[in-house]
Amino acid sequence: MVVKMWFHLFILFHVFSATPISSLTDSSNIISTNFLDDAKKPEVFDWMVKLRRKIHENPELLYEEFETSKLIREELDKLGIPYKHPVAVTGVIGFIGTGSSPFVALRADMDALPIQEMVEWEHKSKVPGKMHACGHDAHVSILLGAAKILKQHEKEIQGTVVLVFQPAEEGGGGAKKIVDAGVLENVTAIFGLHVIPSTSVGEVVTGSGPMMAGSGAFEAIISGKGGHAAIPQHSRDPVLAASNVVISLQHLVSREADPVEPQVLTVTIFQGGGAFNVIPDKVTIGGTFRAFSKERLEQLAQRIEQVAIGQAAVQRCNATVWFGDETNGFYPPVVNNGDLHKFFVDVAGNLLGINKVNTDVRPIMASEDFAFYQEVIPGYFTGLGVKSASPEPVHELHSPYLTINEDALPYGAALQASLATTYLINISRM
Ligand SMILES: *[C@@H]1O[C@H](CO)[C@@H](O)[C@H](O)[C@H]1NC(C)=O
Ligand SMILES: *[C@@H]1O[C@H](CO)[C@@H](O)[C@H](O)[C@H]1NC(C)=O
Ligand SMILES: *[C@@H]1O[C@H](CO)[C@@H](O)[C@H](O)[C@H]1NC(C)=O
Ligand SMILES: [Zn+2]
Ligand SMILES: [Zn+2]
Repeated sequence: MVVKMWFHLFILFHVFSATPISSLTDSSNIISTNFLDDAKKPEVFDWMVKLRRKIHENPELLYEEFETSKLIREELDKLGIPYKHPVAVTGVIGFIGTGSSPFVALRADMDALPIQEMVEWEHKSKVPGKMHACGHDAHVSILLGAAKILKQHEKEIQGTVVLVFQPAEEGGGGAKKIVDAGVLENVTAIFGLHVIPSTSVGEVVTGSGPMMAGSGAFEAIISGKGGHAAIPQHSRDPVLAASNVVISLQHLVSREADPVEPQVLTVTIFQGGGAFNVIPDKVTIGGTFRAFSKERLEQLAQRIEQVAIGQAAVQRCNATVWFGDETNGFYPPVVNNGDLHKFFVDVAGNLLGINKVNTDVRPIMASEDFAFYQEVIPGYFTGLGVKSASPEPVHELHSPYLTINEDALPYGAALQASLATTYLINISRM
């Protein structure tokens, strides 16, 4: 496929003097507009694009983000921004502002996926089988962009902005490790964003309350007794038993969940045997289950175990069931704080225009470890449009064909900078 590159032409430059934030008592509008102008300047925009491409070329999987982490620290050093490192293996926590309270956090995740990039372009992943197919390369460069423009306004910041460069979002629960490290102890709110390939540049999609499901992972080993495929009476067939377990698991959501309360259970792993004439000793199955509360997740987990053991027993087999923990597939639901929602719509509306803030979104069953922050402090997660301007079909996140319209980077950076500074102004007034 053809990948269009989006070079930004700055036809018109205007030198402007930033209005000191502290002098703006009522108009958050002016602050936000300034940040978008700041972020679109070539010294910020081109720099963000360069960083994003560099990270894109060198994707690193969960808890292996060593080079990405190093690049972030080098850039923070150049900007004169102090940081803590290492936090949660590869994590970097930066600080801009007074160094004292109030504290507000901005988060970017850093990890890539075990996917072979299929997009042929100049900055294609140089690592076979690894790709930034969830756009976390853009998240890192956006947060660095926000850091750069915030640093330029540091004297006006009424508190401290905490930059959270987090490892291992893709199943590793890096957010949980950041929380456990205690670095967010005095932080009163956290904002995070995710690129959305189907939403136009300059737009955000967002909502209040439950936005993304909590998830759990399971694996069940169904053990029987292997033997000759032609003499089944001397075996206990785990293939048949596991098949029945898979079928029975489908009934949990359809028959036991409240139909108006979203839940999903999908079996994604079915492994066993290796020869056409041998009944294997065991079969391993596994998958994911999702719901919008921890309670429902726990109920599902309990029933998955009961069904696996009970259904395996019908074919005289045994089942042992394993469930993932926080660093292994268990994520709570993403629930956006209602007060922060009002605040966000206000700030984003001022920055982008209120018609660019789409609050008419339905929750999705995908998960995000941003939820771990929201378990301990009010947090707000939002979608940032990165749709290609070309008429090509949209490739969703985790697709090997994912492309990101880099024109979106300044919008993300300005949004994060506006949210942080405006939040600190408002919390100081309370
Ligand atoms: C949080 O604030 C308390 C009281 O000021 C201080 O003792 C503690 O070190 C702070 N924690 C962090 C992680 O900064
Ligand atoms: C199932 O477990 C029981 C109790 O541990 C054991 O006696 C039996 O041999 C097991 N059966 C199979 C098919 O693994
Ligand atoms: C900041 O606080 C003031 C006073 O509480 C409120 O009127 C204003 O809407 C807030 N700004 C935002 C962006 O929420
Ligand atoms: Zn992802
Ligand atoms: Zn992601």
